[in-house]
Amino acid sequence: MNHFLDIHKTSREDLRHIIDHAQSMKQARDGRPKGTPDAELPLANHMVALIFEKPSTRTRVSFDVGVRQMGGQTLVLSGADMQLGHGETIADTARVMSRYVDLIMIRTFEEATLLEMAEYATVPVINGLTNRSHPCQIMADVMTYEAHRGPIGGKKVVWSGDGNNTFASFAHAAQQFGFDLVFTGPETLDPEPALHPHITIERDPAKAVQNADLVATDTWVSMHDPVSARERRHNQLRGYQVNEELMAHAKPDALFMHCLPAHRDEEATSAVMDGPHSVIFDEAENRLHAQKAIMRWCLGV
Ligand code: CP
Ligand code: NVA
Repeated sequence: MNHFLDIHKTSREDLRHIIDHAQSMKQARDGRPKGTPDAELPLANHMVALIFEKPSTRTRVSFDVGVRQMGGQTLVLSGADMQLGHGETIADTARVMSRYVDLIMIRTFEEATLLEMAEYATVPVINGLTNRSHPCQIMADVMTYEAHRGPIGGKKVVWSGDGNNTFASFAHAAQQFGFDLVFTGPETLDPEPALHPHITIERDPAKAVQNADLVATDTWVSMHDPVSARERRHNQLRGYQVNEELMAHAKPDALFMHCLPAHRDEEATSAVMDGPHSVIFDEAENRLHAQKAIMRWCLGV
């Protein structure tokens, strides 16, 4: 069963195939109206469930549009409206959903929910973000980097900010795609220790960004963080804002990425987000293409 649960749980060969396939599918439909199906319809007669226990714009829309372009059908479900939100076990939900649909994408809080879904489903399961990782995002980011600058292997990627779920998937990707990943942020918001062997930690953001090929950040307060932590996090992270001054330490042709949604002029300034280094909307677009390739890999179609 090809579940797509995390980047480090997927082989390097399969990851490379997914990125290259995403790029070729993107090119194949270049310029076609958004509502036109692809020339190939690999998901014809397939039903895909998209389950959300947290809000989403990009993940929801890109998965839904992607399935439709490939000839399949979607059910977009809110966890709170399912029996899942009223005490039915994940295992039973997984067994039942597998009788109706061919593929399940879930965005949830605890990683344990995703893993239980994958254990008991008899159809492939895709991680659409948990508190711990966000692999679909980083597949789109690798695709975006390579479309602009060529192979990401050996490049220097710097993350400035919170050592959160999106960062964790960057760390998994560093292992698999062979790039150097530097984390700069306060010690209190360090990534989980299991990631430390795969990254370099540098507390000084200007030093960290020296010679970077790619600078990335994300919101200072994630969906799973308590609202009460907002002020403390802002105070700890203020010095790690990605602004033009910080970007000036990177290579002149460095790219800037943010998975979005952004809090403009908090974790990154609008000058950077809308400036010459930024590829944030290409990243958002590439969610569509990367996830289409992920779904085809999961289903073997
Ligand atoms: N980047 C991302 O996953 O965005 P959404 O929360 O809008 O899906
Ligand atoms: N770290 C963010 C990513 C949102 C796409 C969150 O989990 O809220």
